[in-house]
Amino acid sequence: MSITTLGQFIIEKQQDFPFAKGELSRLLRDIGIAAKIISREVNKAGLTQILGEYGSVNVQGEDVKKLDIIGNETFIWALEKGGEVCAMASEENDDMIPLRGAYSKNGKYVICIDPLDGSSNIDVNVSIGTIFSVYRRISEPGSEPTLNDVLQAGNKLVAAGYIVYGTSTMLVYSTGKGVSGFTLDPSIGEFCLSHPDIVTPTDGKVYSINEGNAGEFPQGITDYLKWVKESDKASNRPYTARYIGSMVADFHRNLLKGGVFIYPPTAKAPNGKLRLMFECIPMAFIAEQAGGKATTGTERILDVDPSEIHQRVPAIMGSKNMVDMVLEFMK
Ligand code: AHG
Ligand code: MN
Ligand code: MN
Repeated sequence: MSITTLGQFIIEKQQDFPFAKGELSRLLRDIGIAAKIISREVNKAGLTQILGEYGSVNVQGEDVKKLDIIGNETFIWALEKGGEVCAMASEENDDMIPLRGAYSKNGKYVICIDPLDGSSNIDVNVSIGTIFSVYRRISEPGSEPTLNDVLQAGNKLVAAGYIVYGTSTMLVYSTGKGVSGFTLDPSIGEFCLSHPDIVTPTDGKVYSINEGNAGEFPQGITDYLKWVKESDKASNRPYTARYIGSMVADFHRNLLKGGVFIYPPTAKAPNGKLRLMFECIPMAFIAEQAGGKATTGTERILDVDPSEIHQRVPAIMGSKNMVDMVLEFMK
């Protein structure tokens, strides 16, 4: 048999970290379990009356769909059971959540998650995702976790990744030694290594941006968008526009095929829309680990020092040459 399951892969990789005690491995396993449960719920979303508004509004002022809540609660449940994580910050909660499992207080890690990314696509059967990132806590294990434990810059990340619920469910993650992708085989209920060592193309033809906001973009982005559409054989233009509206899905396509994903500042939202802790940092980490690049337009995303957990930043990420070209226009 030539398959490698996520569980087997995690154990094999533990040997890359000679002093590892297996805690991160167990934590990654717990994320895998949560991912399978959410995948199951996503797959039956159309059947089980769990579509539609949940009747509440999240801290960003957006309607909350039931799957957002299910995803959030599934992660809390899996991490409390596992006991490796002392606190979680989630797009769905105003404040950091100290975990209350029997062993959580001693957990050495904290986690940030966007439990359901692309929620506007749920009702229409379009790919959605989950995004996660893992940091080592700063406070002493055994003590009450503090906000400083989660408010860490991306350059302190221990691991990050995402799950995309697409034509298949895939889990993609990195612990800082490259990027690996696993596809869920529903017949055996396991994530199986399908994309070892993902390296993103240095160049690409796809640009992903919500051009509906074009009237509000900074001049540099407007100029870039004009340039990508100009005809020029030598530089492969015009490019191709692809925008799903689920960051995970847009990012994932560009990661594999080459491309640039842009959520720029707009007149209405000067810091863009995407959340630093829940969306931009973990995706920037994956982009860089795959050989790509991720910037706010002025700063490497992984070097931004967060000041609050729901902070937003502009994002330009993907194939290195494409990101550099956007930056060139933004100068
Ligand atoms: P979420 O569903 O977690 O709120 O995230 C939605 C995000 C992201 O996935 C996507 O790229 C972006 O919002 C789309 O925003 P626009 O509709 O403004 O383009
Ligand atoms: Mn999101
Ligand atoms: Mn979300």
